[in-house]
Amino acid sequence: MSKIKRIGVFTSGGDAPGMNAAVRAVVRSCIYYGKRVFGIYRGYDGMIQNDIEELGARSVSHIIQRGGTILKSSRSDEFRTQEGRKKAFENLKSHGIDALVAIGGDGTFAGLNVFYNEFKMPSICIPGTIDNDLPGTDYTVGYDTATNTAVEAIDKIRDTALSHNRLFFIEVMGRDSGQIAINSGLAGGAVQILVPEEHTTIDEIIAKLDQTSKNDKKSSLVVVAEGGKSGSALEIARQVKEKFNYFETKVTILGHLQRGGSPSYFDRVLASKFGVAAVEGILRGEKNAMLGMKGSTMVFNSFEDMKKMSPDIDHESLRISKIISI
Ligand code: F6P
Repeated sequence: MSKIKRIGVFTSGGDAPGMNAAVRAVVRSCIYYGKRVFGIYRGYDGMIQNDIEELGARSVSHIIQRGGTILKSSRSDEFRTQEGRKKAFENLKSHGIDALVAIGGDGTFAGLNVFYNEFKMPSICIPGTIDNDLPGTDYTVGYDTATNTAVEAIDKIRDTALSHNRLFFIEVMGRDSGQIAINSGLAGGAVQILVPEEHTTIDEIIAKLDQTSKNDKKSSLVVVAEGGKSGSALEIARQVKEKFNYFETKVTILGHLQRGGSPSYFDRVLASKFGVAAVEGILRGEKNAMLGMKGSTMVFNSFEDMKKMSPDIDHESLRISKIISI
């Protein structure tokens, strides 16, 4: 029998579609196992400001299909300080909370690791970020939806690119990761995909565009991950235009629209599985770990192991795209 009686749940960092489905699964499984559950609003900031309330099964009704996060989110500077973390711990204790489930990305788990080392409160992190840039899991909650949103936008841009014989540079999100770019680029039929993990020179970009236009290509789409080594989509387009004017060139930055919207079936199911696994894990003594889904197996990666692992990108999709974008 677990000694844990009250579990706090929060979302942190950039919101991601499916976070609500994860919150719902955590809340409902706590109640299923006879535990009390508390929602912490605005991530670590809410923990510091005591923005915490008890939730019931009906508090999370009708949210499985909603984008964003009902618990709201933040990127907290105060939690980076020892004083901030101490305040957060005292507030959690005042509610009798003795374990935490966080839903977020690398910043969230890094914060939770420091917090665990200081206060030893059992904590599990559910990977929730559109970037899919965490090691130890094939997918993070939100990535599938965000990539589908990007593909939908790319398809629309293709219509206008084709009508005007234009070249479009489309910038997608993924702070330091090319994952959204790679799979939205492959699915959207991009002629090139530029990712932070691979350096492509302006001359190489032009050589590819030149070759495909000689191959009778009348319009082209290049998908660029933000934070890429070749620069932003605007910067790349500016440099390409100086040397290559076969096409009229335009730039579209998809930005935060990739973060919103109703989660896909995949993200809802993944989030629900993670939510239940997090609570069941805590109750059988798991602590200080990030959940991951490897194939169809649920895994707990300790925060310490996570620090030694590095995220990988989908090299195979990138390779496939290079073969078929001629
Ligand atoms: O981490 C998710 C993400 O959407 C990144 O892809 C992006 O670089 C960043 O968050 C943007 O953060 P913010 O919404 O704080 O500007």
